[in-house]
Amino acid sequence: MTSQPTLSPSALRRRIAKHLKASVQEYHASCLPGFEGILEDELKGLPGVSVSGREHGGVGFFGTLNTVYQANLFLRTANLVLLRVGGFLAQTHPMLYSRTRKIRWELHLGYTPYYKLRITTKRSKLNHRRQIQNTVIAGIQARMLKLGLAARYDPTAKIIFHIRIFEDRCTVSLNTSGDHLYRRGYRRGRGRAPVRATTAAAVLANPLTGQPDLIYDPFCGSGTFAFEAALAAGNTPPGFYRPFAFQHTPYYSKALWENLCKHADEENEAFICKVLGSDIDEHAVAAAKETLAMGKVPKRPTFWVANALFTDFQLTRNEAKSPLLVANLPYGNRLTNPSIAKRLIQRFSNHLLASANGWSYAFVTRHAAEFRKSNIPILQTVHFSNGGLPVSLIRGHIK
Ligand SMILES: C[S@@+](CC[C@H](N)C(=O)[O-])C[C@H]1O[C@@H](n2cnc3c(N)ncnc32)[C@H](O)[C@@H]1O
Repeated sequence: MTSQPTLSPSALRRRIAKHLKASVQEYHASCLPGFEGILEDELKGLPGVSVSGREHGGVGFFGTLNTVYQANLFLRTANLVLLRVGGFLAQTHPMLYSRTRKIRWELHLGYTPYYKLRITTKRSKLNHRRQIQNTVIAGIQARMLKLGLAARYDPTAKIIFHIRIFEDRCTVSLNTSGDHLYRRGYRRGRGRAPVRATTAAAVLANPLTGQPDLIYDPFCGSGTFAFEAALAAGNTPPGFYRPFAFQHTPYYSKALWENLCKHADEENEAFICKVLGSDIDEHAVAAAKETLAMGKVPKRPTFWVANALFTDFQLTRNEAKSPLLVANLPYGNRLTNPSIAKRLIQRFSNHLLASANGWSYAFVTRHAAEFRKSNIPILQTVHFSNGGLPVSLIRGHIK
């Protein structure tokens, strides 16, 4: 029996240069359905990126291998950035096996043998996820063994491949982000029903108002809107405080990453914006302050305990010329009766009409109908799902 040659480090580098660095790579960034347009605009702002198309809950795009760094560091509304590794027809297990063993897994795994698979299958002949997983594992092993490399499935591995079979077509992608990108890594405390950071970023990308000079969340909970607003105003990239899965690939360059992070705040111009947050719940405000105490978020927002129904919005506005109210309004759930939440929104709408003249707003609410009954004009409505609940984002100006 002849022993197989081991892929040497220089041979691996040559393969990476030829197959990844020298060619255009295909990507997919996922986002909350309803906000694909905002993500597409963000992608168009990244250097060397061309958008290939929008689909439900994501945007496809092309870029270089360095796009991995930029997309993960700068995108505020993407939940994951996937790098396409392969795509083929897979109607039977032998088909799946023969195609997976041809994929160049070594480019992404190198000498780190541990990987994990995330399998999804829909409207396909191959519909048993465990069997699909076993076939793909066998294909990866065959490929890596041929090169004298080890590869082991490990549910705790940092390198995760997404295997998606849809209508008999299999796409294989590397999850370059790792943990979802809404896990920014700047906070410790969390309040009740926090909105995801990526959702907050999409709500704050407000096309109605342009650049606000004051952002205030009077139902701030643990402060997600305020922290996202502070990051954007300070021009701090959302991925600044967290690690990524691509940092475990053989093509990751620490020097390149550090250089990008060092100059990241020069990419866009920071803007002057005061950020405020208040909530009736002192524990939620304490959680927001705990995040502040970690000292990571720049342009520190100010938090205090207050009942939004008694807030003097003209006083809070002070001299701001384009103030913006943002909030994820109380929903009502099994703990809080929905009728109480509806009543609160009626009272809050009336209070806004009486005291918040001149403010723009962007509210996430489950009870848009209650808001609509007031005379506050709604200029834009986006329906989406927040934590499994159907909600609306409503935007407009209070007159
Ligand atoms: C859906 S949560 C908002 C969560 C927040 N966006 C976050 O990321 O943590 C609604 C918040 O409204 C607060 N709230 C309820 N009634 C209020 C009132 N009258 N005035 C101010 N805050 C209130 C609750 O304490 C809760 O934190």
